[in-house]
Amino acid sequence: MLKIVVCVSGGGTNLQAIIDSIENGKLQNTEIVGVISNNPNAYALERAKNAGVKGICVSPKSFADREEFNKAFLDALNDFNPDLVVLAGFLVVIPKIVIEAYRGRIINIHPSLIPSFCGTGYYGLKVHEAALARGVKITGATVHYVDEGTDTGPIIMQKAVEVLDGDTPEILQRRVMEQAEWIILPESIGLIAKETKETK
Ligand code: GAR
Repeated sequence: MLKIVVCVSGGGTNLQAIIDSIENGKLQNTEIVGVISNNPNAYALERAKNAGVKGICVSPKSFADREEFNKAFLDALNDFNPDLVVLAGFLVVIPKIVIEAYRGRIINIHPSLIPSFCGTGYYGLKVHEAALARGVKITGATVHYVDEGTDTGPIIMQKAVEVLDGDTPEILQRRVMEQAEWIILPESIGLIAKETKETK
């Protein structure tokens, strides 16, 4: 069984997609052992509660400085003892100490086809605003491993989504979620769960 912690900051629709995929049996050999939010008001925490998953908040605002927060975040992860850390709309830069402790065991979902519209400053709606401003006809989502860079780690899965005339950032964001993110994030976790099972 692959034990995962899901890190969230907002609505948590990607978390919901993982929960639903486990419940309907599409995602096997996987257990969500905890959810960590940096935002106490994240609706994702409600989703965790509704699914019977322990959710906690570790907010940078509760600590004297970034170093203290980074340590608390690592401690929170370690308490859950996960095999894999899944960043599902987690808008916090992952500290070096966490990358070192979980090297090759952190994945992230990004709402574009990397290497387009990624890196510092590209998150959430801003990614879709940039795609529309550039006038691309195809966008999508990417699941990748997390390394020290921003959106630079090895790619696990990508899925393309069409940009349509009249799209607003909000409409495009929703289509990218429905047609790509909610599919490839659970599938990527499933791939890793399968590999973990086969090598054990
Ligand atoms: C998702 O679109 C995710 O790809 C994006 O934030 C949204 C979170 O939505 N992540 C990034 O932009 C990371 N750079 P959710 O809370 O409903 O899953």
